[in-house]
This record gives sequence, C-alpha cells and structure tokens, in this order.
Amino acid sequence: MGKSVVSLLFYLTIVFTNILRQSYSYKVEKYSLLMPNVRPSVPELYLCTPIKIDSSKNFYIVGFEPNATMDTAHHMLLYGCTTPGSKEAVWNCGEMVSSVYEMKASSPCRVGSQVIYAWARDAPKLDLPEGVGFRVGGDSPIQYLVLQIHYAHIDKFKDGSTDNSGIFLHYTERPLDKLAGVILLGTGGSIQPMHKEHMETSCVIRENKVIHPFAYRTHTHSLGKVVAGYKVSRMDDGTDVWTLLGKRDPLTPQMFYPVMNNITVGYGDMLAARCTMESNRERWTHVGPTNNDEMCNFYLMYWVEKDSPLERKYCFTLGPPKFSWSASNGLNNIPEIEASSL
Ligand code: CU
Ligand code: CU
Repeated sequence: MGKSVVSLLFYLTIVFTNILRQSYSYKVEKYSLLMPNVRPSVPELYLCTPIKIDSSKNFYIVGFEPNATMDTAHHMLLYGCTTPGSKEAVWNCGEMVSSVYEMKASSPCRVGSQVIYAWARDAPKLDLPEGVGFRVGGDSPIQYLVLQIHYAHIDKFKDGSTDNSGIFLHYTERPLDKLAGVILLGTGGSIQPMHKEHMETSCVIRENKVIHPFAYRTHTHSLGKVVAGYKVSRMDDGTDVWTLLGKRDPLTPQMFYPVMNNITVGYGDMLAARCTMESNRERWTHVGPTNNDEMCNFYLMYWVEKDSPLERKYCFTLGPPKFSWSASNGLNNIPEIEASSL
C-alpha cells in the first residue's frame, strides 16, 4: 500500500513536471556574440563589439551563457543600445558612462544605453525567470547589442594569441508576456579625503506600471564598502517604509544576484540606493570613469507583465556634498545602520 502511494506520487510528479514544461515550452535558440579574435596590446583595455538586430521582428532574450574565463577577461558587460558608440567592428570603449549626462562617442552606446547583463569572475549562466525576456530588435529601443570586455592583463597575448571571449545569447521568437528591463541608480559627487561618505540617490516612479524586481548588481571602484538598494513607500501619515532589494560588498564579483525581497514597485513608490565609501586617501576622490575615480551604481533588473518596461532607465543625483536622502528628498525613517553595514 505504502509503496503504491509512493509510486503514484512519483508518477504524478512526472506528469506534472511534463505539463509545466509543456506550458512554458518555446523554442530557444542560441546566438554567439563573441569578440572577433582581438589581441589586446595594453593592460586595462576595454573593447566593445556590436551586433545589429534584425528590425523586422522582435526577439526575446531569455538567458546569457558566458564564454569566458577570469584569467582572460576581467569582466564583461552587455549593453542594449538604440545606436552604438562607433561604426567599427571593435573599438576602445573606456569605462561605462559615469552619469547619464556624460556619454561620449567612444562609449558602448551613443543613444539609448542600458546594461542588460554582467559577468565577472567565472560567474555561471544567467537564466531569466520562466517566461521573462528582454525584447530586442523589431520596434524596441534595443536595436544593437554591444559586448564590452575589460582585459586587465595582457601577458597571455604576448605570444600573438587572440581572444574570442563573449556570450551565447539564448533567445526565442515567441512573444513573451513578461518583459525585462533595467533601471540604473547612481550618483555623481565627491568623497572627502580620509572620510567615510554616503553617496545617495532616490527617485519617485511616475509611470503607471507595476514592476517586479528580480535581480540587482552593484558597482563601485576601490573605495566601496557597502551598496544597498531599497523600495521606499510613503504611508498616509508621511512615514517612509523601506524594503531592502539588495545589499552587498561591491568588491565581490559584480554580477546580477537575486533580489532579497520579492516585492512589486508601482506608481508613487520610490527607489533609493546608498553607497558607503571609505577613503584613506589624502586627496579628494570624484565620480568618474578611471581607477583614480569612483562610482556609485545600483542596477535593478525587473519584469513587467503585458506592458513595456519603464521609460525611465536612470535615477541619478548629484551625490555628496550636494545631495542626500534626508536633506534633499526629505526621506525619513532611514535605516541608517542597516543600509551601511553588511
Ligand atoms: Cu573589469
Ligand atoms: Cu565604474
């Protein structure tokens, strides 16, 4: 008797799993987006290579499979662009833009920049949640994908060998109901010498959409200690309620991680991020693209159902000393300790 119950359960599990698979099944194909056998000749080089997506139909990217190892590529970023930063097959594309106002011709994108995937330190493949995809090509704002690779060391290229690291894109042509998007929270500003500084940003979502955050990524250069991102909802009595979306030491591998709370963000809610930076330098450190500069970035990846992703791709403030959560945006109930400790 016990045995037959077990085998019935086993049978039902198989049937159920097959039904699940069936209902989500769509043909997933692969596209290789790889560097065209490049040979970096100087250390700390950032190279970009683009692909133009067929604008006669929509494609939905559902997964990213890295083809790289950490002894060659320090990190890779995949940008969605409306127009790329260059017409070349490969170009030197510096660091990422330090703010939305500072795009230069050699950036990965000239128009419509958004990061849709990041890889570092032998991170595994990233599959988006079931039924979620980035819509690209067709009438979407993403007409090009640009792969950026940071080559830190070049010793292995001294013998003339070349590199074709990159990403295998998993995509489907079957229209998906849940579309992925990314919003980048960040700051400008300056860090005082020998000082612990909070770099803060917050903005109100003014689009009538419900977004479901599912992954986040943090980015600073060497002074970052903690980066935390929150949803902030203001109650009727004016009290702010803070829900943690993600928090980590930004010097751990800078890839996308699952959010810490599965909540939705809607019209009137705020998104906020803080980078806690610690400088033991005797000089000022400013936000900028090089290793001598700093950055405070929190990327939030989300999906929307039967809707297009947010128009808004960036939430930037001036940062310290000009901007702070409480003095500039009147936020209250700030989780001071939690936001700045791991
Ligand atoms: Cu890197
Ligand atoms: Cu940076």
